[in-house]
Amino acid sequence: MLPAYLPNSVAAVFGGGTPIDGGRNFSDGRRIFGDGKTFRGLVIGITAGIGIGLLQIWCSGAYGLENLPVHTYLSVSLLATGALLGDLCKSFFKRRLGRERGAKWPIADMYDFVAGALLLTLLVYPSWILANITLSVLIFILVLSPVLHRTVNIIGYYLGVKEVPW
Ligand code: CTP
Ligand code: MG
Repeated sequence: MLPAYLPNSVAAVFGGGTPIDGGRNFSDGRRIFGDGKTFRGLVIGITAGIGIGLLQIWCSGAYGLENLPVHTYLSVSLLATGALLGDLCKSFFKRRLGRERGAKWPIADMYDFVAGALLLTLLVYPSWILANITLSVLIFILVLSPVLHRTVNIIGYYLGVKEVPW
């Protein structure tokens, strides 16, 4: 899941600049995505996710980690892209509910990237999901993801990278 986990953190560190919605509002008068979703965050985040995935592909060949899920160029690209698209979708609905950028939205903030990554991969590359995301792996992901997400965000908050610790 590293290709799905890394993009968020990298976007938080290196994101910023022009927002994806160009500052525009939706028909309800609120921002479409908000200032927290930028082109730079999206592109650098996805690139980092794919990069770590390529490293994993290389490592599994070099160190014989054959019993880990077997990544392909397509699986790492879909996981990384899906993670930040999930995050973007989350922000769209978060704005519709009137929650401001950075406001807390517990379950959604913790699972947006997991849901986005797994759903996009399931849609485009179902055979990879069926072969690798077994029920026990899925349960492991659902338990581990919020813990990792919260831990990394607290670290990011104390490092001054994130404005809020969630
Ligand atoms: N970020 C970015 N581009 C993205 C995603 C994230 O630039 N596509 C950066 C932004 O600086 C953002 C930070 O990463 O503030 C943390 O991301 P996240 O917690 O997802 O955004 P929030 O600011 O909390 O905004 P939202 O309320 O929309 O989730
Ligand atoms: Mg947030």
